[in-house]
Amino acid sequence: MFQWKSLLATKPLAELQREYSASPLKRALSVWDLMALGIGAIIGAGIFATVGTAAAGDAVRPGAGPGIVLSFVLTALVCGLAALCYAEMASMVPIAGSAYTYAYATLGELAAWIIGWDLILEYAVGNVAVAISWSGYFCELLRGFGILIPAWAATDLRSALASPEILASAPKVLGIPVVVNLPAMGIVLLLTWILVRGIRESSRTNIALVFLKLGVLAFFVLVGLFYVQPEHYRPFLPNGWHGVWAGAAIVFFAYIGFDAVSTAAEECRNPARDLPRGIIGSLALATLIYVAVAAVVTGMVPWHELGVAEPLAAAMSRHNLGWAAGIVALGAVAAQTAVLLVFQLGQPRIFFAMARDGLLPQGFAKVHPRYRTPHVTTILTGVVVATFAGFANIEEMVDLTNIGTLFAFALVSAGVAVLRFTHPEAPRPFRVPAAPWLPILSVLACLGLALGLPWITWLRFFAWLGVGLLIYLLYGRRFSQLRRAHP
Ligand code: ALA
Repeated sequence: MFQWKSLLATKPLAELQREYSASPLKRALSVWDLMALGIGAIIGAGIFATVGTAAAGDAVRPGAGPGIVLSFVLTALVCGLAALCYAEMASMVPIAGSAYTYAYATLGELAAWIIGWDLILEYAVGNVAVAISWSGYFCELLRGFGILIPAWAATDLRSALASPEILASAPKVLGIPVVVNLPAMGIVLLLTWILVRGIRESSRTNIALVFLKLGVLAFFVLVGLFYVQPEHYRPFLPNGWHGVWAGAAIVFFAYIGFDAVSTAAEECRNPARDLPRGIIGSLALATLIYVAVAAVVTGMVPWHELGVAEPLAAAMSRHNLGWAAGIVALGAVAAQTAVLLVFQLGQPRIFFAMARDGLLPQGFAKVHPRYRTPHVTTILTGVVVATFAGFANIEEMVDLTNIGTLFAFALVSAGVAVLRFTHPEAPRPFRVPAAPWLPILSVLACLGLALGLPWITWLRFFAWLGVGLLIYLLYGRRFSQLRRAHP
């Protein structure tokens, strides 16, 4: 008989602690590595690309204008609430699966499955979006060196279908034009190869990229300051608070990533102390940088002129600083490479944790005998993300990523509140202040931000969850380890 109650079975905290002690993954990461991992995941397409749409608005929403600075602060507050909740969870349950594992310990197996499935939207789908944006900047950079990639080899299907020129220039196979985003596919496959080789090497690559992108953003602020014209700040809120709120919903994409720090829980040396520091520290640093960059870019260019694909480079070009625009483009490529790296690292570890629990096939939990990385899931993620990056459209991917991530943040926050009641005695190396009120506020704030997304995104999101539910009922429910251990 179908046992509804069993869907609410939670994984005992003690078992999670045991899993942590027995983890075969290599513990190599320090607090600085974690901070770099966070910054690596956070600063990318959001500040280099979506900031323009948020400031200038588009066909369906008003722009925030110079008030985009307030949008960044507002979104940082929403993310800050969620970050505190993640920090408490990560310090209590230092296991690779992040939000997925937290849900298993608090809200039950069904919720855990749903969130694991939902996280694919944040990690894998998010990376499809970043890979597409990366490809755009990369082509721009190559153009600076006089190298031109043909349009049919660096475009998505939707844009190609809307452009007779691209279709006409594309090579034909059996009379059908071939269009594909080759740079987007290439970068994902290259990073997959690096990640299979080992977490230490991956972490080193990430640190180098993080320094490069921080340097380029500092360069942007310092050079740009000389070109700020105070009259561009008036009026400060051209579309009132509505514009600021719409902008906040867009720039949310720029903050996604601080939570990815928690996916490396089993690979850091002192998770209870370092995970909260890594999560909150990287979010705080990103906020400071974003506010500075947003203030400078809106001071350099009238806000309504910012609605372009590369607003920071365009701001430099507007003041005839072509060389500086080139440096910014290079920074954008480096920044997005780091984002891709961290998310390609996070997704396989979530699959790994789900397979260990029996909710996905056992092959997914395999660890490479020499490199000690979850190579099966790393390769699988790489191939799937690369395939979609080759054809998908960026806007649709960004919206789906945002809704999936906000849902995950809300569930983790709810989990923190639940755990305070069900396990008040469990050790919490890091405690959210004012619980359960602050976690409840976090749930409401995340849902409020998600309500700002288009209805079609909500529809797609529910369809995605529906498919996931079906897979759980047909597979995960039968093979769950927890169910076997406690039938
Ligand atoms: N926060 C990440 C970015 O902006 C996803 O690229």
